[in-house]
Amino acid sequence: MAKKVIAYNRIEEPVLQQLKKSYDVRFFKDIDPKTDDEFLAFLKEAEGIIGLGLPVDSELVQHAPNLKIVSNISVGYNNLDIPTLNKHHIMATNTPDVLNDTVADTIFGLLIATARRIPELDQLVKRAEWTVEALGSEYYGTDVHHKTLGIIGLGRIGQAIAKRAHFGFDMNILYHNRSRKKDAEQAVNATYCEMDTLLKQSDFVCLMTPLTPETEGLIGKREFTLMKESAIFINGSRGKTVVEQDLITALKNGDIKAAGLDVFEQEPIENDNPLLTMKQVVTTPHIGSSTKETELKMSKLAATNLEAGLNGEIPPNLINRELWQS
Ligand code: GLV
Repeated sequence: MAKKVIAYNRIEEPVLQQLKKSYDVRFFKDIDPKTDDEFLAFLKEAEGIIGLGLPVDSELVQHAPNLKIVSNISVGYNNLDIPTLNKHHIMATNTPDVLNDTVADTIFGLLIATARRIPELDQLVKRAEWTVEALGSEYYGTDVHHKTLGIIGLGRIGQAIAKRAHFGFDMNILYHNRSRKKDAEQAVNATYCEMDTLLKQSDFVCLMTPLTPETEGLIGKREFTLMKESAIFINGSRGKTVVEQDLITALKNGDIKAAGLDVFEQEPIENDNPLLTMKQVVTTPHIGSSTKETELKMSKLAATNLEAGLNGEIPPNLINRELWQS
């Protein structure tokens, strides 16, 4: 009998069809995984899960006695309770590297859009409010080139952002990371510094850390107060790495100038979130890696990980690798 696999939330169609040739795959979307009867019944038999953002915790694992692998179609894996997966000897995988340049493009786009106020001015033109040939200084933006970019979390995506900043925009690059990245320091002339120094000196503060217990709420009131009043804050990490209420207050009080956000504390964002009414805030709906090309690469890589795990092999992107080596 074909092994049962749950596909959750998002997977590219050609990859789903390919998997269906070898496995009994059921696709679930927009369901509550805690209460959906069909999902819970299928989970009981499932050996694999592939998809985006399914919270896999001890409660879910209780319903999944046959589960061997959870293959995330994302680089982030804050949806997975790794200690629980370790305890039950369940593999966890993600999709690193294939998305680096795509996410870096998105984040740089967000940075430029925020600095140059592109969405706001686009709306002005489309509302037919461009009534004088030369708009006044109240519509001017802020330069990006030759400014100082502070990157918090200089992983693979952070480094792709730094490359764009250095080679494309002549920016001065500061970074803070758990460990120093000597290669990046040489490649893009980045300077390692303590967090507070980065916050005080950067014109653009770009947050790129994964969400972990250590980074939850990393940027809050204190950090926004340390930033320049002219600073532009960019979040390409996860919503919960920032205390969103403190960000709202910092923007309202003018402690910082503007923000470009791809991620939010709650996703989809609530309709009444004050960020949505702020002109100085540019938003995108968590689409950092969402291009046709890259989503397909991520789905394919996740399928490779899944199949390896189902066959009892070590998947290329195994997260809980230590467990399998012990
Ligand atoms: C996107 O946020 C990802 O983790 O891949």
